[in-house]
Amino acid sequence: MPSTSYQERRSQVEAYFDRTAAETWKRLTSDAPVSGIRATVRAGRDEMRATLLGWLPEDMSGKRLLDAGCGTGMLALEAARRGAQVYAVDLSPTLIENARERLPAELAGQVEFAVGDMLAPGQDAFDYVVSMDSVIHYERDDALGVIAGLAERARERVLFTFAPRTFLLALMHAVGQFFPRSDRSPAIVPVAERALRRGIAAEPRLAGWQVGRTRCIQRGFYTSQAMELIASTASNAPTESNV
Ligand SMILES: C[S@@+](CC[C@H](N)C(=O)[O-])C[C@H]1O[C@@H](n2cnc3c(N)ncnc32)[C@H](O)[C@@H]1O
Repeated sequence: MPSTSYQERRSQVEAYFDRTAAETWKRLTSDAPVSGIRATVRAGRDEMRATLLGWLPEDMSGKRLLDAGCGTGMLALEAARRGAQVYAVDLSPTLIENARERLPAELAGQVEFAVGDMLAPGQDAFDYVVSMDSVIHYERDDALGVIAGLAERARERVLFTFAPRTFLLALMHAVGQFFPRSDRSPAIVPVAERALRRGIAAEPRLAGWQVGRTRCIQRGFYTSQAMELIASTASNAPTESNV
């Protein structure tokens, strides 16, 4: 049963992406020109998406991937182009409708877009789960619960991003300059990498997972950090000799 704080935040996030910011988000995730601040966010997001995809095999034929909180489906499409069978889910019916419109005919058999919670029961096991900038809205304990829930659906890798809590970012956040007012989403919850690693190590449902690569991307108004979780049973899981 999801916590009350998770459910409350999920409602805010859904209202924001489905209504308040849906048009802005569609534009940001398209080729349409954007100016200034949004251009830096787009550049940062492009780099983040490339980073996450760069941590996955070039050839994902025969693999199943969950894009958790897929938005307009940019990462889902790129994974499908590499041969993956993709299940892409998002809270926002508006963004999912847009994602379906963008789906090229040649990938139609490979991507299923669905409206719902990324932790909804009944989704099959996946080889890879990717959640780009979707967990960042939840309080630390809820975010850890989401990460653990995603790991329960994954066989090999879970890739997610978090908003790193550095001194500078904490300061910017505190003085309200983290995002310009018109771009502000319901909330982004910064978390210190060390606290996140401690939380992952202490979460019983993540006992079979190890933290792999991590990379922080900072472009203008976009700051996000990617983290990889590797199943201990995965063939290329880190060993004492290769960490
Ligand atoms: C910042 S956007 C990122 C979208 C996409 N991953 C991308 O990078 O283009 C965050 C998305 O996560 C979705 N989201 C947040 N919490 C979710 C949840 N619990 N279940 C499904 N989607 C969720 C939001 O609706 C929103 O579309």
